[in-house]
Amino acid sequence: MSGKRVLVVDAGGRGNAIAHAFARSPVVSAVYVAPGNAGSEMLEKCRLASRHGKGPKSISELLDFVKKESIDLTFVGPEGYLSEGMVNVFQEAGQRIIGPKKEAAILEGSKCFTKDLLKSLKVPVPPFQNFSDAAEAKEYALQYCAENPKKGLVIKADGLAAGKGSVVCSSSVEALSAIDRIMVNPRLFGPAGSKIEIEERLNGRELMFFALSDGRTVLPLESALDYKQAFASNEGVAIRLFNKLSGNPILDNNPNTGGMGGFSPHPWLDEELTEKIMRRIAVPTVRGFKEATGHEYAGVIYFGLMISEEKEPAVLEINVRLGDPEAEVILPRLKTDFYQLSQAILDRELEAVELEWSQEFCLGICAISGRAIKPLSSGGEERPGYPGEHYTNMPISGLDKIDPDVLVYHNGTAFGADATGKNRLFTTGGRVLTLVARGGTLGEARSKAYENIKRIHFNGMRYRKDIGLGYV
Ligand code: AMP
Ligand code: GLY
Repeated sequence: MSGKRVLVVDAGGRGNAIAHAFARSPVVSAVYVAPGNAGSEMLEKCRLASRHGKGPKSISELLDFVKKESIDLTFVGPEGYLSEGMVNVFQEAGQRIIGPKKEAAILEGSKCFTKDLLKSLKVPVPPFQNFSDAAEAKEYALQYCAENPKKGLVIKADGLAAGKGSVVCSSSVEALSAIDRIMVNPRLFGPAGSKIEIEERLNGRELMFFALSDGRTVLPLESALDYKQAFASNEGVAIRLFNKLSGNPILDNNPNTGGMGGFSPHPWLDEELTEKIMRRIAVPTVRGFKEATGHEYAGVIYFGLMISEEKEPAVLEINVRLGDPEAEVILPRLKTDFYQLSQAILDRELEAVELEWSQEFCLGICAISGRAIKPLSSGGEERPGYPGEHYTNMPISGLDKIDPDVLVYHNGTAFGADATGKNRLFTTGGRVLTLVARGGTLGEARSKAYENIKRIHFNGMRYRKDIGLGYV
């Protein structure tokens, strides 16, 4: 019998990790990835989706691909396609596809809508206000900071901003500057910033909580401790230089990124906290969303939480997908067959599923395009690096020196010809690679990851040196 054929839609490291999870299923014979990257072609059973030498990108091209290539199941990684209604289009065409429909993707697509909904459902959220007028937002921020001198604010663009739309502020000066940059032309995140949500900055520890939903049952996944800020706290000089080169007047602001690495299992997500998050947040959100809108939520749901000292969770944001790079350290630990699990979501049979996890630790480090100066011959311009402006098309070397049991998921790479015509691997994005090492202890995984990442090189390569530090 021929095996199942899967399409994974994702351009990054998360897509590599999802494709790898499907490829481990004995019932799967081929995994196609669109648009994918060079890493998608380096995993067993996996290849880039292509028709007539061209990679399908738009929803209609992808639908054409799955029909022509007899794909059994499609899994969507990023929020953009989901918000555009990819699941609606595929389902109307009779295709089996994992992810929420457009109507449900609003939980990530509009922070203002989501915070209003959660508040109405009595799901814990920080105190917040939504604004569509910059002057009113500034007046509120000024008054709030004057009345609450010890508290900070977080200014959030309402719409999708590639994970960079939230600015954590500790003073009114920072808050006003963030409102200007998000709401006033030229808007930093484009139309996503025409509305903003301003919320109180909470103290505590952050936790990303992932679950699967088939519309009826919500099933928690294991989690990862992730590192969102671009720099470790002892990298003050690099932080100031980054802000100087980025034109940000707040020189000490350690910028948020999509993620710089992480490890799984999460050190303090125990059974008791999981049960509390399920009971107070995950289940009421999925049920309440259906009651409020009439739409079911199916697919992965991801809650960005702040856990207070008293172990009380509050929702900072909801995403409608797996995290990147969280997927890269969580999925390698999943022993349950990923194809069968996806079938259970589509057949509304999650209630009968018990997930099986490996007890080993996975630690991932993202290698990013950091500060780099182009040679004088090509202009000599200096760029601050990810999450700001960065260079691409830098040749990458050293992947052949990585230990065989270490995983390298690619976030932004492509093959191309170098000056001598030789086929080589090049950087194409801010995040370039996520190297994931496994071990019986976190310390073992950590040493292996840091030993191996030193063997990889590209111009401007940078990574955080403190992933897992303090937890081993
Ligand atoms: P978000 O886009 O809402 O996930 O926010 C991005 C990051 O900003 C979070 O992961 C937190 O590190 C930080 N953040 C967002 N909201 C808050 C808040 N209310 N209090 C403290 N930190 C926050
Ligand atoms: N790592 C954060 C995200 O995927 O949104």
